[in-house]
Amino acid sequence: MDAQRFIIIAIDGGAASGKSSTSRGLRDRFSLLRVDTGSFYRSITLTLLNADIEPKSDQNLADALEGLKLETIIENGDAMISIDGWIPDESIRSERVNHHVSEYAALPEVRKRLLEYQRNQVQVAKANGFAGMIMEGRDIGSVIFPEADVKLYLQADPEARALRRAKEGIVDSMTKRDRIDSTRKNAPLMRPEGSILIDSSHMTLDEVIEEAGKHIEAVLKRD
Ligand code: CDP
Ligand code: CDP
Repeated sequence: MDAQRFIIIAIDGGAASGKSSTSRGLRDRFSLLRVDTGSFYRSITLTLLNADIEPKSDQNLADALEGLKLETIIENGDAMISIDGWIPDESIRSERVNHHVSEYAALPEVRKRLLEYQRNQVQVAKANGFAGMIMEGRDIGSVIFPEADVKLYLQADPEARALRRAKEGIVDSMTKRDRIDSTRKNAPLMRPEGSILIDSSHMTLDEVIEEAGKHIEAVLKRD
């Protein structure tokens, strides 16, 4: 039998739609490198907040972004960004970052700074022997990898999402983030063309992973 070819899976959706937990399950089942691009936007946001750079397109922002050295470290199958040697921790999930991340992520300069870095994760995955890559975010199937082998779009109704966050004990401006993310000019959150829609409002995590896994199996069998 031929060696399995490298597969790319894109997974997009709003806040608390289940991207991270679903992609962790798929990472383990298919030996994929998992790339959580939300953590990249969160890490850049915290870096800019700490440097007192305001979320607006000006020279201060351009200079700050240009100076950043971005590298990748792999931890338990996840690609972690390192910014000037700093490896982000739980502070990127704080209320402060939740509150501001969408403002910074809407800036074209910020998105441009992360574009090639995100695409380069394919090389990182290949160089480290992964069978493929699963990348989650808001514009993965639409902008970063429109040619991905499988494109998943997760959604869940607002009640289910609010309940999930409450269970996690996290304070999050989810509705506000979703509004900014969906209406920005640059790479807005949308259901990508050719994507598979999974509404997880009334599904357990295992059911979502099972459903998504079927689509990945189908692609692997086809090749
Ligand atoms: O985990 P959750 O879905 O709540 O958020 P996240 O994936 O950590 O993303 C945090 C924020 O980063 C989002 O609300 C977007 O503003 C931004 N983001 C983005 O603009 N593009 C991506 N590909 C990923 C995240
Ligand atoms: O990454 P994203 O913000 O899209 O969502 P997540 O962090 O994967 O999921 C948010 C919370 O919802 C986690 O605590 C998951 O365990 C939970 N979840 C769930 O209860 N049922 C699902 N089908 C998916 C996620």
